[in-house]
Amino acid sequence: MKIHLYERIWMGLGVVLIVVFLGIMIVMNTAHAVQPPSHIETVDPKTIWDDPRFADLGVTLTPEGAKVVLVAQMYAFLPAELEVPAGKPVTFRMSSADVVHGFEIVGTNANATLIPGYVTEFTVTFPRAGEYLIVCNEFCGIGHHGMFGKVIAGGAPS
Ligand code: CUA
Repeated sequence: MKIHLYERIWMGLGVVLIVVFLGIMIVMNTAHAVQPPSHIETVDPKTIWDDPRFADLGVTLTPEGAKVVLVAQMYAFLPAELEVPAGKPVTFRMSSADVVHGFEIVGTNANATLIPGYVTEFTVTFPRAGEYLIVCNEFCGIGHHGMFGKVIAGGAPS
């Protein structure tokens, strides 16, 4: 079979590109470990219930605003209802006890992924007092559609 020179050049370039792209993927996944964008803090999902960082689930009021500690597991957020102040920064510290879950507070820009093994942390301010729906937006199993919670923001002028 005769292959034209230009065709051979293009085939060679195709192989080179595949090798380069595979190389980039291997380097990015080994040298630069895949990680949550916030920070790198790990927690063993098997012992998360004994971890002192997750001993007090729920809302703690702070001088600046509030801190929320939450664990997601199939198919619930624990705790599922959070009362926080409105108009003040609320820092969420969360992880998953089993599989990857989503954590989206509808109507805000709070939207994060809870990955077993990692602590997800972000701070959000609820501009208005009221109720906000929390949904899991990562398919996590047969009960995924029933996985939701609620934020009740209050205590500040709306
Ligand atoms: Cu948890 Cu979907």
